[in-house]
Amino acid sequence: MNDKPSNSPLEQRLIDHIAKYGPITFEAFMDAALYDPEHGYYPSKRREDQVSPVGTSGDYFTSPTSHPAFGALIALQLEEMWRTLGSPTEFTVVEMGAGVGVLQSDITEYVERELPSFSKAMRYIATDVAPPPESESVAKSTALPVGVAGCVLSNELLDAMPVNRFIVQNGVVREIFVDFQGDEFVEMVGDVSEPEVAARVEPFLSSLPEGYRGEVNLRLGYWVDSVSATLDRGYVLTLDYGFDRPELYKPTRVDGSLRCYYQHTLGQNPLRRIGRQDITAHVDFTAVDHGMMVMGIERIGKLTQQQLLINLGIDDFLQDVTLRDARNEITHTEAQENSAGIASLASTEGLGGFRVAVHARGAGLYGEPLRALTGIDGGLRLTEGHAAPLLSDASAEHARLLRSSNPFSSGDPSLAGLPTWEELFSDEP
Ligand SMILES: C[S@@+](CC[C@H](N)C(=O)[O-])C[C@H]1O[C@@H](n2cnc3c(N)ncnc32)[C@H](O)[C@@H]1O
Repeated sequence: MNDKPSNSPLEQRLIDHIAKYGPITFEAFMDAALYDPEHGYYPSKRREDQVSPVGTSGDYFTSPTSHPAFGALIALQLEEMWRTLGSPTEFTVVEMGAGVGVLQSDITEYVERELPSFSKAMRYIATDVAPPPESESVAKSTALPVGVAGCVLSNELLDAMPVNRFIVQNGVVREIFVDFQGDEFVEMVGDVSEPEVAARVEPFLSSLPEGYRGEVNLRLGYWVDSVSATLDRGYVLTLDYGFDRPELYKPTRVDGSLRCYYQHTLGQNPLRRIGRQDITAHVDFTAVDHGMMVMGIERIGKLTQQQLLINLGIDDFLQDVTLRDARNEITHTEAQENSAGIASLASTEGLGGFRVAVHARGAGLYGEPLRALTGIDGGLRLTEGHAAPLLSDASAEHARLLRSSNPFSSGDPSLAGLPTWEELFSDEP
């Protein structure tokens, strides 16, 4: 008896395509698995469940969904960027890959509450390739504005872009395609589909062992093009996990950085649960820098999320929560929940280890050199006179990191075999 479950509509569509045209690039496979408008991971989660795949009930957490303090600290940085540009009457924030709009909601609420002058100038445009159906706040990513003064912002957008995969065989860069044989999807190795796949890896080839696997993100170039078309004057603030290229393709990272997430569990087989699990790859920040440089957008900062948030005053927010607890303005449980959420944003074992790239175009006032930003250099107290936002203040849903329903909360026995964030994102493979 054949007890193999029947193929899903998405699997069948891929099988038919492969039968007709032959094996497909991993990039095309990942694009279908994540973004097929009917059955892809992001569109179907957002449509069928009407639940964000991000958060306690979803497959993973991100910084915005961990605590509204993330959005508040970014809001303080945006306000300083606005002043650095000479406080124009309109400062546009274009968030790309905004998901269900949690960061948008946290930033706009904090700006309205704490930064009234900036609030008059800030226009916030959130876009996503798979916005929630009928969302009024997040627009389709084809609706990008052009020629804005402001900031292009993204959090964990680039790691969600489809990538090509390669393998080193007999000292040559070859490409890993997806084929269907018998009754399963399998890898097939062939010549590279684009010369650029090999060109990115070749400078490192002599040190890479036989069988070494990795990823190449060719879409970063298109993303840079859209950033360049959008931004006339201002900043690009990019937060994600990833490395500069020598680190990304270091010899010991033999299996590359491709990862799958399904209900907070890490996996490495993207050919399973097609359309039901998230697939990501670490970002090649060298490609980001090169692309931006070609477009005349200069990198002005490169740091970790922990450094950024410390510079922006995350410790003041933690202290604020402790003080409000001591004054009985909030319950002790509320204080613990908020402190855990805020601390998670800068923890070295977790989100704090993410990379932050800051780029700028024409941001120097009247042709003067660029002025320093507090997020990059520290020094100023942007939090001075501003309260920390609490989970209860935010209209968007957040993860509640201390609740028992959270699989990351301490004491959950099902967590025993899960990798820690440190293992997921450490420099060591
Ligand atoms: C890992 S989620 C992050 C969501 C959100 N920024 C957060 O931090 O919670 C990645 C998001 O990027 C979106 N995305 C992927 N490629 C995109 C593209 N080329 N343009 C716009 N959005 C994209 C996905 O639909 C998804 O919502």
